[in-house]
Amino acid sequence: MPILIERYRRWLDVPSDLTAYSIGEGNTPLVHWQTWGATRVWLKLEGSNPTGSFKDRGMTVAVSIARHSMARAVICASTGNTAASAAAYAGRAGLPAFVVMPEGQVAPPKMVQAAAHGARLIVVRGNFDQALSGVRTVAANESWIALVNSVNPWRIRGQETAAYEIVDALGTVPMMLVLPVGNAGNISAYFQGFHRYAGRAPEFLGVQAKGSDPLVQNRPLDHVATIASAIRIGRPASADSAKTAVKESHGQFLSVDDTAILAAQKELAHGGIFVEPASAAAYAGLLQRQSLQTLPSGDIVVILTGAGLKDTDTPLQWASIASTLSPADGILSTITTLLEEMAG
Ligand code: F0G
Repeated sequence: MPILIERYRRWLDVPSDLTAYSIGEGNTPLVHWQTWGATRVWLKLEGSNPTGSFKDRGMTVAVSIARHSMARAVICASTGNTAASAAAYAGRAGLPAFVVMPEGQVAPPKMVQAAAHGARLIVVRGNFDQALSGVRTVAANESWIALVNSVNPWRIRGQETAAYEIVDALGTVPMMLVLPVGNAGNISAYFQGFHRYAGRAPEFLGVQAKGSDPLVQNRPLDHVATIASAIRIGRPASADSAKTAVKESHGQFLSVDDTAILAAQKELAHGGIFVEPASAAAYAGLLQRQSLQTLPSGDIVVILTGAGLKDTDTPLQWASIASTLSPADGILSTITTLLEEMAG
């Protein structure tokens, strides 16, 4: 399979002499999850990207362009996944990466990932929105540093490729697309991508976490709280284009609480698909929407944006890890006890 940029080069409008830096992004599975009456529910496993999130689609383009335009470093603010992806692609392209994260707000495996790829982590005492505002100022004043957040249009162009893949896989545009919304770059990318590739977009269901739902409340929030740390964002940079996507597609924004997010995470994981809380929020949003209103007939695609191992703390709220035996106990008797527990 050619790398993502080569596969969709003519849709991406990248410079003809661009050297593409790839680590095998895109071409993620579209899994048929369940059929509910006349509705087929599909899951797009974006956690299967090389760094475990959808960010890799945009990052391959943004970092390749940064290198092409002679940038000497890349910078981003992040709740974790952008940081890990920027770090990996910068490593691949031989550029230093500076990743700015809100203190105490990032799941530790994502910090480890960014650091392992060689990025320099800068932790700010503030929230994501303040971190983003800080890096935007730096990049605006220092032309040698390329900003690789989704405010960089090349990030959005790269993320459009997920819409292309869905159209290619289903042979058509689905009826509805369900996805988590944080800084709102991804929903904007899908809207643009479906229009560019297929001339029309599905109905968008943009899911936010209660406590961190500025698009549902239709106002910026300065204090945000949710278990889904990836989308703990009060001032989405791409709010306007996200609103356009929802309005023009006759869709909606809705929010789901932490309990619903954890229940959705557990249901998916018990069905074999382990995703991080922000991604589980999308599925929780679909369940909530189904309980309120009939779903459209045909295909619905839920975008599962990040892998479960990205955040190893939250599943411990519903998963039990081990039964520890003393040497005198038997494994079989433990299994019997566990089976009784499961039946009860
Ligand atoms: N899901 C996951 C797993 C994410 O990491 C993010 C955003 C989103 C959904 C929301 O996407 O921001 O385009 O609306 N993560 C960013 C980061 C903010 O820094 O990794 P969005």
